[in-house]
Amino acid sequence: MSTNTTAASTPFARRFGLRLPLVQAPMVGATTPALVAAASQAGALGSLGAGAMTPEKIAAEVAEIRAATPRPFGINLFVLGPAAADDATVRRALAAIDPLRAELGLPPGRAPERYAPAFRDQLDQVIALRVPVVSFTFGVLDAADVARLKAAGSYVIGTATHVAEGLAWRDAGADAVCAQGSEAGGHRGTFIDADRNPLVGTMALVPQLVNALDIPVLAAGGIMDGRGIAAALALGAQAAQLGTAFLTCAESAAVQDWRRRLAASTDTDMAVTRAITGRYARGIRNTLMNRLEAEPERVAPYPVQNALTQELRQAAARADRGDYLSLWAGQGAPLLRGRRAGCGAAELIDALAAEWHAASERVSRSIAVE
Ligand SMILES: Cc1cc2nc3c(=O)[nH]c(=O)nc-3n(C[C@H](O)[C@H](O)[C@H](O)COP(=O)(O)O)c2cc1C
Repeated sequence: MSTNTTAASTPFARRFGLRLPLVQAPMVGATTPALVAAASQAGALGSLGAGAMTPEKIAAEVAEIRAATPRPFGINLFVLGPAAADDATVRRALAAIDPLRAELGLPPGRAPERYAPAFRDQLDQVIALRVPVVSFTFGVLDAADVARLKAAGSYVIGTATHVAEGLAWRDAGADAVCAQGSEAGGHRGTFIDADRNPLVGTMALVPQLVNALDIPVLAAGGIMDGRGIAAALALGAQAAQLGTAFLTCAESAAVQDWRRRLAASTDTDMAVTRAITGRYARGIRNTLMNRLEAEPERVAPYPVQNALTQELRQAAARADRGDYLSLWAGQGAPLLRGRRAGCGAAELIDALAAEWHAASERVSRSIAVE
């Protein structure tokens, strides 16, 4: 651990006793209780992507994290209403998905019983579990739900991809806002003007939210190393939230071919698509993305398309076939090549802390020279 004290801490980092102002981002499909516990134990704020989990699974995974670390951690949920789809929408979508399923030896797809877990049940579970930090994406809670979470002792973080969304979360009573720039991997949280898919980048978004809000802002999107953490803090963020940087950690659930493609990626390989899940998400371009994008009129809205492609992607994960996976990744993915493949989260966080201290020192030295 670096003993350098140049880099300043932030109120957010102090509140959770963090060694550096770093959040390990919640990521459905990649975060595991082991990753979250390792990140929190190493002095960051670990976060579990629980948006796709049943309330029972959320309870089991929270228990696993608590058994592995006494330190604070976060749980992330998707703010979604009940979803339904008519037969014609399902048939149209499956006409594009079924040929891909056949290539993996799967029979034609069918409409699932449920397109997504019931959000209200997930929320009630998280409130009952009195989780230290609860974050949300894809929507905003009403003030009464935020108040229930706070009464349970939880610190509430809302995701914003533009200023109006940050203001909506502030008005609902959130403790902090995660400013998620368009460089970010995976789905972004957009819920106001989502059809226009506003693509405000992290560098532009963070200072605008810092100016607009009187609550802490966390920066997410394209941050891969200590230089990025220092830059986020210079823009006024109180912490940096890194997702893609943790995908290749030993404790991540990412399968081998996803890891290989991350390590081999170049800056232009990542694209934003709604063809895989019905909602805009950034990932490495592959066969699945290209084939589904070729028939945009067949893509069902989220979460219907997500549910209809799920079995295919799960089969691809079991077979380690990256061509048929959703290879979510941010624009900074090529920077993973500087890391030791398969290192533990603790090793990554040690490196990030040292890089952040060095970057902060470089900045203060260059200011001193001027
Ligand atoms: C594989 C993957 C899954 C993700 N799942 C979620 C999620 O469940 N909830 C969420 O709020 N954000 C999710 N995100 C976004 C991250 O929380 C974070 O904002 C993003 O990774 C930051 O950008 P970066 O990937 O460039 O570091 C996901 C990102 C990735 C790469």
